[in-house]
Amino acid sequence: MGKPKDQPFEKIPQHIAIIMDGNGRWAKARLLPRMAGHRAGAERLRNIVRACTDLGVRYLTVYAFSTENWKRPADEVNGLMNIFMDFLDKETPELLKEGVQVRHIGSKKELSDALLAKLQACIETTKNNDRLIFTLAINYGGRDEIVHAVQEIVQQGLPADAITDKTISDHLYTAGMPDPDLVIRTSGELRISNFLIWQSAYSEWLFTKTYWPDFNKNKLKEAILDYGTRSRRFGGRTKKEEEEAYNG
Ligand code: FPP
Repeated sequence: MGKPKDQPFEKIPQHIAIIMDGNGRWAKARLLPRMAGHRAGAERLRNIVRACTDLGVRYLTVYAFSTENWKRPADEVNGLMNIFMDFLDKETPELLKEGVQVRHIGSKKELSDALLAKLQACIETTKNNDRLIFTLAINYGGRDEIVHAVQEIVQQGLPADAITDKTISDHLYTAGMPDPDLVIRTSGELRISNFLIWQSAYSEWLFTKTYWPDFNKNKLKEAILDYGTRSRRFGGRTKKEEEEAYNG
């Protein structure tokens, strides 16, 4: 595994998940077609993957296309699918070189054979890398994922009282991955939008007004610094709070 190039932080989130929002508004503000915003978004993603490897983030998961995004006009949906395929074609050699392992979460059912083939090729090519696990959520929905998990559990005939949190986690698309420590949503929207709804139960959230195509390495560093100031209690109390309570 390669060493991170710059890691000026005391506390680095092991797993960052991002809702890449605001491509459309970024384009509109520049009197450009929406697709120009998505293309700029893809370019930005390329930079943020690189930034994560530099900074020593171990997992990056990005929301590229939700189960609800099929409601968009056909030309936008097709345009996005083409951008995903271009990205996989162009970036796979670089991802391989940089030690990035690519994974996919989401339902494969509605995805085209062409996209699935490129995804599979990239996943296969990068499968032995472990510097950064980079997961693309395409045709992903948190509720769909939980329904899928429950279906698998029922099909396996597990008795009801044997089902725990871990049983559910182990049947999600993200099985085996740590939950996100930090979830970032760009563009000023304050919603979860069906992204990692089970896994983000105790994540720290950061909402920024920056549109995704303007989100850069410096903004990522700011987000990581902000994360470093958070006190994570997972429903309990910090060690310091315990001591204070004990000392009266
Ligand atoms: C939301 O912006 C963004 C999306 C639905 C697509 C995300 C896709 C990319 C960033 C392209 C690159 C991705 C890969 C995997 C190469 P929006 O269109 O909803 O923006 P708006 O809310 O301003 O209209």
